Amino acid sequence: MPPAGVIERYRSFLPVGPATPVVTLSEGSTPLIPARRLAAALNCELRIFLKYEGMNPTGSFKDRGMTMALSKAAEAGARAVVCASTGNTAASAAAYAARAGMRAVVLLPAGSVALGKVSQALAYGARVLAVEGNFDHALQLVRDLCDRFPITLVNSINPFRIEGQKTGAFEIVDELGRAPDFHFIPVGNAGNITAYWRGYREYDALKTSGLPRMMGWQAEGAAPIVLGRPVADPHTLATAIKIGNPASWAGAVAARDESGGHIGAVSDDEIVEAYKMLSRLEGVFCEPASAASVAGVVRSLRDGLFRENPRAVVVCVLTGHGLKDPERAIKNCDAIPTVPAALEAVASAAGVS
Ligand code: F0G
Repeated sequence: MPPAGVIERYRSFLPVGPATPVVTLSEGSTPLIPARRLAAALNCELRIFLKYEGMNPTGSFKDRGMTMALSKAAEAGARAVVCASTGNTAASAAAYAARAGMRAVVLLPAGSVALGKVSQALAYGARVLAVEGNFDHALQLVRDLCDRFPITLVNSINPFRIEGQKTGAFEIVDELGRAPDFHFIPVGNAGNITAYWRGYREYDALKTSGLPRMMGWQAEGAAPIVLGRPVADPHTLATAIKIGNPASWAGAVAARDESGGHIGAVSDDEIVEAYKMLSRLEGVFCEPASAASVAGVVRSLRDGLFRENPRAVVVCVLTGHGLKDPERAIKNCDAIPTVPAALEAVASAAGVS
């Protein structure tokens, strides 16, 4: 059993000291699931692994960064934290603030956050504000707020967030015994691709574990890095990554270029297709934004990326749990038939008679 929480598990790699109060919910140590049926359905020999970050305590990878951000905020004597969020950062900040006995304020783009995430932020007792604007507007407001008032910012521009999130790469290398050949990951505000690349590099410097090519994926309607310019009015059903001007843009470009990787865009249809395949073929339920990583694999197969290495080891990060966005799951399926409480009717409707 690894120690509980990423700070204890990887303490020597993190900027914490003996006096740092560790605010943890036992995050990290998430499953790395081989996806053989997915590979077979894609008619390929790739060794695909799913890093299922939905298994973190609040259902997303944000918990890795938030344990660091809140621990360091507590160490500095902060009383309140704030973030702008497409939902998962808000849920995570609210949970870890509750655990630390701090106040959390979260700014959400009005009407663009999945139901599960809103319910979490409310349940954990955050002050939840719906901003009449998109994520990029909310993030600017939060930056301005922190300039003017005594409140700690816990978006990924807080450097401790990135430090915590790099532990995802450590876990993958610890489990595989080496870095994968390719690392597929959705890109929104671009903190996570920055963090994973840092983690892989730090481990490689110490253990010569190798480096993956970093493959980042944005949604077509919200693909500023692919276009090379901010998108004023981003749109995609993958609301987690509906971001037009990522804060860690430079980090994502460095990860791509230093690793010989790629940042591409996939359509909402491709995202939904990958999302359905994951749950139906592998029993792994993630939120739509997470499926952008797998949609990226499908696209890359089509583009011949693996021609030279058809048995490559490929890790896809599934960043958030499917239960975050129950409305999307239901929208993608046929309506549930209502049947009389009678055996014949049930057998017939079930297709077993
Ligand atoms: N996947 C999910 C489920 C996310 O919630 C996010 C970001 C990403 C991918 C992209 O990660 O921003 O590090 O590139 N969600 C943020 C939030 C923006 O507010 O919860 P990134």
